Formats: sequence, C-alpha cells, structure tokens
Amino acid sequence: MADAPTAPPPHPTHRSDLLSPPDELRRLRDESPVSEITYPDGTSGWLVTSYAAARAVLADRRFSVRNELRQFPVRSAETELKGQPAAPGWFIAMDPPDHTRLRRPLIAQFTMSRMRALSSKIEEITAGLLDEMAEHGPPVDLVEAFAKPIPSLMICEMLGVPYSEREQFQQNTETMTSFTSKPEELVAAYQEYYSFMDRLKDRKRADPADDILSGLIAADELSDAELIGVGLLLLSAGYEPPANMLSLGTYALLRHPAQLAALRGEPSLIDTAVEELLRYLSVLQYGVIRAALEDVELEGRLIRAGDPVTISLPAANRDPERFEDPDTLDVTRRSATVQMAFGHGIHQCLGQQLARRQLRIGLSMLLDRFPGLRLAVPVEEIPMRDDMRVYGVRELPVAW
Ligand code: HEM
Repeated sequence: MADAPTAPPPHPTHRSDLLSPPDELRRLRDESPVSEITYPDGTSGWLVTSYAAARAVLADRRFSVRNELRQFPVRSAETELKGQPAAPGWFIAMDPPDHTRLRRPLIAQFTMSRMRALSSKIEEITAGLLDEMAEHGPPVDLVEAFAKPIPSLMICEMLGVPYSEREQFQQNTETMTSFTSKPEELVAAYQEYYSFMDRLKDRKRADPADDILSGLIAADELSDAELIGVGLLLLSAGYEPPANMLSLGTYALLRHPAQLAALRGEPSLIDTAVEELLRYLSVLQYGVIRAALEDVELEGRLIRAGDPVTISLPAANRDPERFEDPDTLDVTRRSATVQMAFGHGIHQCLGQQLARRQLRIGLSMLLDRFPGLRLAVPVEEIPMRDDMRVYGVRELPVAW
C-alpha cells in the first residue's frame, strides 16, 4: 500500500541566531527556492526564498495583493480576518487600477522639498530625544526613548497629527500588528483609528496646513473614505518598520563591535551601513504575501491559480547568489544597495526615502552623542519580537 502523502511543513520559525532568519529558510533556498508550505488554515501554498525568484514574483502582475485572495503564512489575528477586501484607500492591498489611482496622488506629496524639510525635522526631533536621554542618565530603554518616538513624531509631522495624540495611535498600531491580538481587539483598534483619522480629515479641510493630508484634500482626487484609509495606511506602514530598524539596527551594531568601530571611524559610511542593516535584518520577518491569479510556472514548480504565495524578504536578502558571504554584517558592503527590504515592483515601499533619512540621521546622531554606548544587560535578557509581523527587540536597555 502506498504511503499517505504527508502535508508540507509550515513556514519555519526557529532561529538559532537571533539576528538571522529562521535556519530552515537557508536549506529551502538552497534546495528549492519555490517550495510548498502549509498555511495556518491547512491549505497548501508556496514560500519563495531566493533573490531572483522573489524579484520575479514581485514584478509579475499574475500575482495579486488583494486581501481577500492572499493569506499570511503564520497564525495571527490577520489570518482569522482573511477574506475581507481592503478598506477604501488601503492601496497596499489593492491591484491596479485601484492601486495606481490611489498611489499616484500620494507620490506627488512626497516631494524633494518636503523630504528636505522633514530631514531638518528629524534632526531636531533626534537632538531633543538624545538630550532627554543624557539628562535622564543611564540605563535607558532605547526602544521607548529613541526608536519609537522618531518615526511616530515624523508621521505626526507629515500628516499634521498633533503630537499629543500620538500615544493613541502607537497603541492601536501595536494591537493591529501583533500576532497575539484577538480578532475583536483588532477590529476595535481599527475602529478607534478610523474615527481618529475621520476627525483629523475634517480639521484639515477646515484649516489646511503644509502637510500631506491637506495636500491630498486640495488635490481633490480621493473620496473622504479613501482619504481616511490613506492616512491610516501611512500611520501604520510608516511606524513599526522604521522604529524596529532603529532599535534592532543599534542592537546589531552593538553585537558586532568591529563593524561599529568601522562606522565610528568613518562616519561617511552611514549610507552604506544603513543599506546593509536593512539587508541583514530584513525586519518584515515573514516578508510579503501574494496570491496567484492564474497558473504560473516558476523555478520548475507549478503554482496554481488561487494559491497563496509568501515572498521571504529575509531569505532573499541573505541569498549567496546575490550577496557574497551573506550572513556576515559588513557596513562597507557596496552591493547592499540592491537589498530588497523595501520590496520590489509596483508596491515597493513608498516611504523608503523617508525611512532611509530617519535611519541615517537617527543612528549617526546616536553614535556621535554617546561614544561609549553599550548594552546595559546581558544579551540573553533582551526580549525579541518573534511574535510580531515586524521583527525587532521589545526593549533595549543601554548605558554609556
Ligand atoms: C525601514 C523602514 C521600512 C521598511 C523596511 C518598509 C518596508 C515595506 C515593504 C516591504 C513594502 C512592500 C509591501 C508589499 O509589497 O506587499 C512597503 C510598502 C509600503 N510602505 Fe514601507 N517600509 C518602511 C518604511 C515606511 C515609511 C516610513 C512609510 C511612510 C511614511 C512607508 C509606507 C509604505 C506604503 C504606503 C507602502 C505601500 C506601497 C504600495 O502598496 O504601493 N513605509 N514598505
């Protein structure tokens, strides 16, 4: 009698090195860069782990980002809510032509002059936070004192959200991106978030200022519900990844003293170092997700219409075919500029230039201000965010 077919394994999660992706991803990439995995609801789908295959999928319109089609590879509140179409304005989960129509007016708001103005704002914000740290004295939790406030103040600035209201959206974002949130908590956080943005939009309509929301209202291309959705998307997409890159990036440098010394010795390396940290850490730990709209053959495997596909950015960014000695952090690595932490194709991160500015300015100013920066507790005591969509450290006690 033939053996019953065994179900493919789930997405791997075990890391033997806390700064590297799950070990099993390496074997999958070497053996079969497009491999079958079992999704949380029991259906079978795909995991893409090589750089070349990841780029191919992300540039291919036969793969959709629509919420109602795709599936997240590990169990979370989001998997429970699968099947719901994206809210109006939430173009990160829409295909063209809706995606194109909603993204275009926003690109027009991300102008060079606004980015420059935001850079001086990042410097001002960072200087203020570092002053507060110095005044408080060591130890300080770098996550709360530095990594979270920089992006949240930046988004408040961009959208014209009064900073006094930031805590409300920080809490809601965390609820919405945690794997341990219950579906009803997710819905409640979203509703609170929604009415907050609804009120903000009314305020901007009555009293416009030099911010993105006012600019979108003046351009008059989006409905009220879409304006709210776009504002919410920027709030949530623009907060967790940079916050975690700032704290995990600092942690990675502290754990690689020779790299930290190289950067301190040659501050102009910061641009390359930031690209390398983005590559090495790839904080979107489960990458990005799609669903096949038709049958597609890729790397000798047949992906059937309707199959969920996960593109592992962490695995792609450690692909030895693309990066020499990929598991080594090297702040002088020139090829790091082709890293894929911001995705690829039409959904490639809209906020990447702003994110780069936050990381370059934030990390340079931190290292400059505290030449003796070090961990204040043993490495084993630093709690990791392995149950969150965005990887990082929960706390980072530092001294100097
Ligand atoms: C280090 C920081 C960041 C990382 C690693 C990151 C990563 C990503 C990735 C991988 C995607 C593609 C998602 C997909 O293909 O399904 C994306 C999309 C997006 N990101 Fe970022 N992001 C960062 C910062 C930001 C910031 C600061 C903002 C806003 C101010 C932002 C706004 C967006 C938006 C609006 C999209 C959707 C683009 C679209 O669908 O066309 N991100 N981001």
